[in-house]
This record gives sequence, C-alpha cells and structure tokens, in this order.
Amino acid sequence: MPVSIRAIRADITTLQVDAIVNAANSSLLGGGGVDGAIHRAAGPQLYEECLGLGGCATGDAKLTQGYRLPARFVIHTVGPVWQGGTHGEAELLASCYRRSLEVAAANDIRSIAFPSISTGVYGYPIESAARIAVATVQNWLPKYSGMREVIFCCFSDHDLAVYQELLKPGQ
Ligand code: AR6
Repeated sequence: MPVSIRAIRADITTLQVDAIVNAANSSLLGGGGVDGAIHRAAGPQLYEECLGLGGCATGDAKLTQGYRLPARFVIHTVGPVWQGGTHGEAELLASCYRRSLEVAAANDIRSIAFPSISTGVYGYPIESAARIAVATVQNWLPKYSGMREVIFCCFSDHDLAVYQELLKPGQ
C-alpha cells in the first residue's frame, strides 16, 4: 500500500495517529512550545515516564506512551539549537527524523505526525529545516514497508506553505 505524506496546519496534540513526535530538550522533562503542549495534553503520567528515561541526546529519539492524548505513543526527539549552520545542525536535524522513524518501525507504528523540529525556540530557519525533514522522511520510508501515513504538522500558514511547496509532485 502506498504511504501518504502530507502537510497540514493543526495542533499536534489533537491528531489521531499511532504516534506524535515531540520536539523536546535533552532533559525530556518538558518545556515550552510543542513540548509544553504535549505534556499538558498527555497529563502528569507522561512526565512520570519521562523521568525514568534518563534524558535524550541531540539527534536521538525515545518512545513513551501517549496517556491522555489521542495518539497512542509519543516519540521524543531533541533537535539541534541553530548556531549559524556550521555546527553540524543539518546532520543532527536529519538524525531526529531518521531516529524517530526507526523507533516507529521498531514499535509497529503505522501513522506518525512530526512537528517542525527545531524551528521554534531553537531557531532553525524553516526553509532549510523543512527541506531536511521532507528529504529525510522520503529517503527513509522505502526501508519500512509498515508505514502508512506521515503528517508534517505545521503550526502556522507560512510553515504549511513551505512544506506544501516541498511536497508538490516533481519536487
Ligand atoms: N502543535 C504543532 N506544532 C506546534 C505546537 C502544537 N501544539 N506548538 C508549537 N508548535 P518549539 P524547538 C510548533 O519551540 O524549536 C521547548 O521548550 C512551533 O510553532 O516547540 O525544537 C523544548 O522543551 C514550531 O513551528 O521546538 C525545547 O527546550 C515547532 O512547533 C525547545 O522548546 C517547534 O517549535 C525545543 O525547540
């Protein structure tokens, strides 16, 4: 079955997918932005589970339950802080998408929604971040036949337009 890859504008905490990805920090103990929204919506049990994970390195990803979220799982990944682009940011950001998909594959996750990792508080320019997000997902998907749906969940119309341009057929 072909996999559906699309961009939408939504609050990621409302999505009914097998897993949503959290743009976390290395403590995995919550923060602002999408991380704060996910912890609020999932409830205190998410924090309790995260306490036992021992943090997460930049570019890596770890799985928890979704608790009160409609999504069954949360895959927490830690994006790089933008420092001008010469500190390995692109490779680390690609690693976030790759590792999230590896964790998804290992847990039989068939639908997944990504926020625009690192492009909020961490300051990664949206155009280059979105290019990496789309290319990494497209390159990786043939390796995992179980995936059915990948959603790039944007929080602004501008971000949505950037992703939609990249996802146009023939790009
Ligand atoms: N649904 C979807 N996207 C959202 C939502 C939401 N509910 N809320 C925000 N966004 P950010 P980062 C978008 O700052 O840059 C946290 O404090 C937001 O508009 O959440 O990776 C963590 O604890 C932007 O497009 O994540 C870390 O300390 C995107 O999500 C730090 O921020 C990512 O913005 C991580 O920074």
